[in-house]
Amino acid sequence: IERTFSMIKPDATKRNLTGAIVARFEAAGLRVVASKRLWLSLRQAQAFYAVHAARPFYGELTEFMSSGPIVAQVLEGEGAILKNREVMGATNPANAAEGTIRKDFALSIGENSVHGSDAPETAAEEIAFFFSGLEIVG
Ligand code: GTP
Ligand code: MG
Repeated sequence: IERTFSMIKPDATKRNLTGAIVARFEAAGLRVVASKRLWLSLRQAQAFYAVHAARPFYGELTEFMSSGPIVAQVLEGEGAILKNREVMGATNPANAAEGTIRKDFALSIGENSVHGSDAPETAAEEIAFFFSGLEIVG
């Protein structure tokens, strides 16, 4: 059984959409096996998104991700990484399929409501960034 890392972004927590987003994961067969609400500092957001440091949107992305509360989660299920990305939809909500979280809730390519790991290696790294083994209860 696979695990992936998910984050509900500040645009969504500010609009009180946490429960609506978690319900989408659960309806898709993903189980929340760890969860915590945090407000990242700019330095923590920069560390989490270090892989994007060379991208032109890095400053905007890290300022946004430290602009309000986030909910960090570990999701578990068969093919969880791919399934989560399907439920999230395309990065830009303008390109996201009907019924996806980003189609229904995202405001823009930057304020796009959710993050999800893109591969097994990044899932393991991102889970370890936020959670200790004791905090993950399958
Ligand atoms: P994540 O699940 O968040 O990693 O999304 P992704 O894999 O679909 O997108 P990618 O890894 O390419 O980009 C990471 C994040 O950077 C996106 O989710 C957006 O929030 C942000 N981002 C990507 N492109 C842009 C952009 O052109 N402008 C801004 N402001 N943010 C962007
Ligand atoms: Mg990505």
